[in-house]
Amino acid sequence: MSTSTDAATDAATGTPDEQSHASPATTPDGDPVSSAALRPHAEQTYAAELAALAGADDRQRPPGWKLSPWAVTQYLLGTTMDDGTEITPKYIGSRRVVEVAVATLATDRALLLIGVPGTAKTWLSEHLAAAIAGDSTLLVQGTAGTSEEAVRYGWNYARLLAEGPSEAAMVPSPVMTAMARGSIARIEELTRMPSDVQDGLITVLSEKALPVAELGVEVQARRGFNVIATANDRDRGVNDLSSALRRRFNTVVLPVPDSAEDEVRIVTQRVEQLGRALELPEVPTSLTEIQRVVTVFRELRSGVTEDNGTKVKSPSGTLSTAEAISVITNGIALAAHFGDGLLRPADVAAGIQGAVVQDRVSDGVVWREYLETVARGREGWSEFYRACREVSA
Ligand SMILES: Nc1ncnc2c1ncn2[C@@H]1O[C@H](COP(=O)(O)OP(=O)(O)OP(=O)(O)O)[C@@H](O)[C@H]1O
Ligand SMILES: [Mg+2]
Repeated sequence: MSTSTDAATDAATGTPDEQSHASPATTPDGDPVSSAALRPHAEQTYAAELAALAGADDRQRPPGWKLSPWAVTQYLLGTTMDDGTEITPKYIGSRRVVEVAVATLATDRALLLIGVPGTAKTWLSEHLAAAIAGDSTLLVQGTAGTSEEAVRYGWNYARLLAEGPSEAAMVPSPVMTAMARGSIARIEELTRMPSDVQDGLITVLSEKALPVAELGVEVQARRGFNVIATANDRDRGVNDLSSALRRRFNTVVLPVPDSAEDEVRIVTQRVEQLGRALELPEVPTSLTEIQRVVTVFRELRSGVTEDNGTKVKSPSGTLSTAEAISVITNGIALAAHFGDGLLRPADVAAGIQGAVVQDRVSDGVVWREYLETVARGREGWSEFYRACREVSA
């Protein structure tokens, strides 16, 4: 097998025209496309923070990294820099978890983030890629239908038929592109991919090279290349990782928030950021409502109330932090557009019921029981109780 050719590398890197996210395209209004994007990538949203950190970062950077591991950690956990620049926290939780994840990526092992739904696996993976490689877009979404081409390479069949196998006819996968650029490839929901497709990653991770047998060449990974994969705890057993692949990953478990205070902080912060991104009218974020939603979710998840240890039944859904964030965000949209501009219990009641009652019959019973035995008698909850009763009637 020959060593990498420049042509293969070019094919995988793409011409500047193909890197549309880097081109200065504009909307009909003349705004840059990135500012009109519904959800800009992390490296776009936080470009100023990343630039400030890069400017001040005099620690050693691993080859191919845009920032030192220390600065990446600061970017993720937030800090105030010496010159007063605010770095907003992205991940709220254990510093150690973040340090282990960042340190892993500086080694030759790939990173696997696992945890129950809504524990910020995808979120952390995007921000890690943005801070380390300046590009979070080299993404493979794992599903039962993910084919080998998504992790290796495919062909432009029109060109393949017309010209035969050539570099120009090859369509590199995001993983191949990341290898050629020395960037980070992200693989979402790794365990949902069929096992043989997963195993296609073994060569990539152990040899750091991807042979293209048809062309008799291989793409060698440049320094800086690594892989961040995420997998859901609940999917365990769907397509379990083979032990050969597992050995090539360092696994970091993202925990559910320890305390109600942590969870309230996460929800509060993300709701503010989302409200700004969606340009929702300003609604004073009501800490009481956020606390209440988080309390309901935590109690139903754990099956016991936080004040007096009353046992409650748990519904079938996950009631993740992510769902708490969307319940509050929906409530804010209701309050802003149809209410009096204040977030009231009635604005969150429908959303909370929708999150809890996934199965109309069994979850409906669980929810009504919770309302009657817990919410009804609780001090300060009567308006919330009434609002929920109205929605479920
Ligand atoms: N500890 C946390 N710090 C900051 N944000 C968090 C935290 N936990 C959850 N979130 C927020 O929850 C939302 C959902 O997270 P994300 O989609 O990354 O979850 P996930 O673990 O990938 O879930 P799934 O298994 O369903 O894919 C994000 O908006 C994220 O900001
Ligand atoms: Mg995810």
